[in-house]
Amino acid sequence: MKEINNIESRTEDAKEYFDATGLIPEHVAIIMDGNGRWAKKRQLKRSAGHKAGMDQVKTIAKHASKRGVKVLTLYAFSTENWKRPLNEVNYLMQLPVDFFSSFMPEIMEADIKVMMIGHPSDLPKKTRKVMEKAIEETKDNNGMVLNFAVNYGGRKEILDAVKEIAIMVEKGALKADKINEKVFEEHLMTSSLSEQQNVDLMIRTSGEERLSNFLLWQNAYSEFHFSSLLWPDFGEVDFDEALRIYQKRNRRFGGL
Ligand code: FPP
Repeated sequence: MKEINNIESRTEDAKEYFDATGLIPEHVAIIMDGNGRWAKKRQLKRSAGHKAGMDQVKTIAKHASKRGVKVLTLYAFSTENWKRPLNEVNYLMQLPVDFFSSFMPEIMEADIKVMMIGHPSDLPKKTRKVMEKAIEETKDNNGMVLNFAVNYGGRKEILDAVKEIAIMVEKGALKADKINEKVFEEHLMTSSLSEQQNVDLMIRTSGEERLSNFLLWQNAYSEFHFSSLLWPDFGEVDFDEALRIYQKRNRRFGGL
């Protein structure tokens, strides 16, 4: 049995199997789980886990961009996360401020374009403003899209799309029998990702194996990779391991 926390053995595996010229998933989505447990293991506050998680976002974003991923969507805050204690919610809302104030030069250097899905109007002003600023400053970049899901929920996204379409039908702007997958996708928050709006590889860390209301429509045909590592421990070699496993899968999209 391989020791999962042994970085040397993980690095060797990645070197041995990863094929940089092989197929790279265009859209990778990550549920970055396990910050709290990472902190608890070290007898630290949960906020220290989220801080370490934020630092790992920088590492993985740069690495994914280097690997040629076109869109990296990260689940930073769900519509359900408001249920957490107020001090933790406040800390999580401060993270984008700290993230962009320290990471913007590297984002520009890597030509990364920042985008966001979710409901900005319910965010504290400072969080909303910093996200808007990052989106504006990087709008002309042409590299990987770093797409943050903040105050995002998959069911709400689908319901909102249904409502928009229902209104169009009500007004006579759209015939009900013209509603198809393409029309529906135009009303999702990911519509601006066009070709890449559906997820190719979905990663969740920390050993939990569920979707937690994340990109429900867009994950319909994605490959899933569940890592037992806690998010702050999930490094470049582990990302490569996920790519390697993806490269070995045979995606049939329901065909043979
Ligand atoms: C889940 O772990 C993690 C979150 C709810 C927050 C994820 C946020 C980050 C990794 C940082 C995001 C950075 C930016 C720039 C927005 P958990 O707290 O549920 O962990 P646990 O299950 O071990 O308690």
